[in-house]
Amino acid sequence: MSGADGGLGKVVVNRAMSLDGFIAGPDDAMDWIIEFSTEYAFPEVVQATGAMLIGRGTYEAARRMSAEDTAYDGGPVFVLTHRPPDEPERGTTFLTGDLAEAVTTARAAAGGKNLEVLGADLASQCLQRGLVDEVLVYVLPVLLGDGVRFSTSGLGRVDLEPFGNEQSGPVTMLRFRVRKPTDRDVRPPSAGPAAG
Ligand SMILES: NC(=O)c1ccc[n+]([C@@H]2O[C@H](COP(=O)([O-])OP(=O)(O)OC[C@H]3O[C@@H](n4cnc5c(N)ncnc54)[C@H](OP(=O)(O)O)[C@@H]3O)[C@@H](O)[C@H]2O)c1
Repeated sequence: MSGADGGLGKVVVNRAMSLDGFIAGPDDAMDWIIEFSTEYAFPEVVQATGAMLIGRGTYEAARRMSAEDTAYDGGPVFVLTHRPPDEPERGTTFLTGDLAEAVTTARAAAGGKNLEVLGADLASQCLQRGLVDEVLVYVLPVLLGDGVRFSTSGLGRVDLEPFGNEQSGPVTMLRFRVRKPTDRDVRPPSAGPAAG
């Protein structure tokens, strides 16, 4: 995946995170994010976003929040689920197929802008499958102690390359390129351990 592919935007895992690594508190609590996101915004990120692919968990959590708290103009929303609802919902497309196909579908709808991927489970799968170009994290000055972690336990190692950091009041935005296996220095098997 690359931002240069046929005029397509990048695939960006985007989330706010507590300093101790949680993207939601206990019981999917998001109040700690709303306190900051309403006052300290990064409008350039919203402007660069053309569509969102979210997991069913994120969709359900957002439904429990007020419309005011979820107002975010990130373009059309695609929800990946094994259990699409019987009734269609305006502005939301439910996808049930393969993960890579879902990313391709949502990315094509982004009109050349970036596709945001939200949800710990969904984003971890996308990272694991090499479908993500960037990770963008808003680090908020709070410790939550418990909740939904940034990634799921089976993710494994993903190497990142930092390329940006920006401050808006108490919020720090960090940006990383995801290093693809071909980006890494591959040492020949005969090279042995590095000399210390
Ligand atoms: N801090 C932030 O910026 C931020 C951003 C987004 C979300 N959140 C929070 O994160 C939490 C949700 O994250 P999460 O990890 O629990 O859930 P999630 O990734 O949003 O959704 C997981 C669900 O998505 C569906 N799904 C995932 N992979 C699939 C696949 N390959 N094929 C079909 N369906 C698939 C499944 O739903 P079915 O069971 O329906 O099949 C699965 O249970 C919420 O608390 C939300 O508020 C925080």
